[in-house]
Amino acid sequence: MKKITIAIDGFSSTGKSTVAKQLANKLKYVYVDSGAMYRAVTFYAMKSGIISDSFFNVNELLKNLKNIILEFKFNDKLGFGEMYLNGVNVEKEIRSLDVSKLVSKVATVPEVRKVLVEEQQEMGKQKGVVMDGRDIGTVVFPFAELKLFMNASAEKRAQRRYDELIDRGDNVSFDEILKNVQYRDHIDSTREDSPLYKAEDAIEIDNSDLSLKDQFNFIYKIVQKRINES
Ligand code: DC
Repeated sequence: MKKITIAIDGFSSTGKSTVAKQLANKLKYVYVDSGAMYRAVTFYAMKSGIISDSFFNVNELLKNLKNIILEFKFNDKLGFGEMYLNGVNVEKEIRSLDVSKLVSKVATVPEVRKVLVEEQQEMGKQKGVVMDGRDIGTVVFPFAELKLFMNASAEKRAQRRYDELIDRGDNVSFDEILKNVQYRDHIDSTREDSPLYKAEDAIEIDNSDLSLKDQFNFIYKIVQKRINES
């Protein structure tokens, strides 16, 4: 069967990665969480004293870009690739609220975007890839056979992220998560380089009131149709 490229974009915590992982498992495609790459660069910058709540030394980050080696290593048990930063698994660290608070700033830097977009294009060049992010259908794979744009209300999204963080034992409040979701929506969609917007040929899916099962069944039908047409 012909392999296609599936680009999934949308606001934060819209369940992009959940559906992307489901599709990749079902189709035996490679899943790439592009947000994890921006998060890992941010984590590196935090650890190296390059960024904090009150400052961001962009030049220092640019000087260090060549020292940041990102890899996804497939975890058989989990069924997806985990993010390794310079050989160390940082999957847990990059999901923290501290990283979420700073990642949108790092993602505004054009030089960072350029390097990560090139790496993403390389990972997807054989097709058979499901990649999620903010600019996948618009910049990374503008010719993807299928583009999805996920959306849900900010409150629903904050609730999902809050539940995830509480489940793993983080000490966070719903209000700070909601503020972070709204803050990232704003920065991600208003930045100059590659802002988040729906590609003209993307299919928009609002999953505020869709169960995971219904959402998957709905999307999987679209995918099968697209594969048959390609
Ligand atoms: O998908 P996520 O919430 O893990 O992404 C983290 C941040 O990275 C998000 O706020 C914006 C940025 N990002 C981006 O600018 N472009 C992408 N392709 C993916 C993520």
